[in-house]
Amino acid sequence: MTYSHTLADQLYFNDVLAIALNQANQASDPYRPVWHFAPQFGLLNDPNGLAYFNGEYHLFYQWNPKACAHGAKAWGHATSKDLLKWQHQPLALAPTQEFETHGCYSGSGLVNGEKLELFYTGNVKFTQGGRTAYQCRATYEAGKQVEKKGIVLPLPEGYSGHVRDPKVWQHQGRYYMVLGAEDLDYQGKVLAYVSDDLQQWHWLGEVFGHGLNGHHSDDFMLECPDLFPLANRHVLITCPKNWIERDGEKIETFDVTYHVGDFDYQTAAFAHQEGVLMDHGFDFYAPQTFADQEGRRILFGWMGKPDEFEAYQPTIAHGWIHQMTCARELTLVNGRLKQLPVAEISQMRHSQQCFTGLSTCFAGLSAELQLHDLQGKELTIEVADDLRIEVDSTGLRTVRRNLKTNQWQSIEWQGRVESLQLLRDHSSLEVFINQGEAVSTSRFFGKGFGVESDKGFKVSSKQEISATCWQLAQ
Ligand code: FRU
Repeated sequence: MTYSHTLADQLYFNDVLAIALNQANQASDPYRPVWHFAPQFGLLNDPNGLAYFNGEYHLFYQWNPKACAHGAKAWGHATSKDLLKWQHQPLALAPTQEFETHGCYSGSGLVNGEKLELFYTGNVKFTQGGRTAYQCRATYEAGKQVEKKGIVLPLPEGYSGHVRDPKVWQHQGRYYMVLGAEDLDYQGKVLAYVSDDLQQWHWLGEVFGHGLNGHHSDDFMLECPDLFPLANRHVLITCPKNWIERDGEKIETFDVTYHVGDFDYQTAAFAHQEGVLMDHGFDFYAPQTFADQEGRRILFGWMGKPDEFEAYQPTIAHGWIHQMTCARELTLVNGRLKQLPVAEISQMRHSQQCFTGLSTCFAGLSAELQLHDLQGKELTIEVADDLRIEVDSTGLRTVRRNLKTNQWQSIEWQGRVESLQLLRDHSSLEVFINQGEAVSTSRFFGKGFGVESDKGFKVSSKQEISATCWQLAQ
């Protein structure tokens, strides 16, 4: 059955059009990124359906076009020729059917000849409490409206209603899907299915989670799993959900970890190494990867988290909230994942400035800063008034003033810092340590934002350092 553009879809699209026509003026918005992808209005979260298809990069994304808040998500859609300039496309999926009443949740894309196959989760909440989830299929042909094909997989037995975020890929003529899940013992699991036609999916097994392949944890849910081959191994990225105690309160955590290992396509077993945290900043969640036409493994992440602070972001007054990370290329070096901005980023560089000395400022709200031969030296890089990067012989700290409490908070990466590459795009900062060995990703908004006191990057050190800065423009 095909659910092509029903009356409910038309009504939803009309609503969104009305909001679009009344959207806030972006020209007077100091927070809006110049070259990172951000929604025109409403709330963006996870990247979805990433693919290189029909001569373009496709970025779908979790989108609530109706409010700067979470809710029944739709899929937004954008395309790009170079991963830098994005063209907004018509809304791809709206939650209009009975199998997706509370959202067309995250999922992935798979190029299939003339079609881009999309898999997503139909999220359904019951009025009496509880929920279920359906894994659904839709197809996209260039220039046409996405066609929903309906449910391909109902909720499997043995799991709660939290089974979602299908990531689909092809291997030796068969199709594989991993799903994030919570089992009935409240433990996070990654599940695998196999198919020969993308329509009938057969259980393969549990891939990852407590009690499997030597892994022990009390994470209660694993969101947005991504399992992919890289340099003759496999990498599994997951977003484990857990709780921590802070000031006597139970707070939900939103981390992203990766495990390197070997996936058995017959049994779904995944023998793996220890997990490694993928980010050491404040805003990185639900990343997704895809292989492009050159075979590069490219990642986008949501530069945000569904924490209790997001409602304080000042972009809401401008009608939008959250953005994507830059496109990052992943490589595997000595069993460790490295993340670096894709090479295309260097096309935007102009107005190079070089500096050697103790302290300086590089103006510019969209700029790249590189420092090499640091050898564990002590230095501080201030960005606007509310974010700074502190480096010493023990590692790197990202220090940010909390939007709600106004208190300074910091996140640490421990190790020896040899080099740094920083990308600032108005209200976002991505810091790549030691050629991508570790990353810190954060948004920041502050009193001094974009005004006189905002020096772009203010670098200071007690030992001599050398830095190069470029302005970035499309
Ligand atoms: C992760 C997530 C996914 C879900 C989506 C809903 O941020 O919670 O698990 O599919 O967001 O927007």
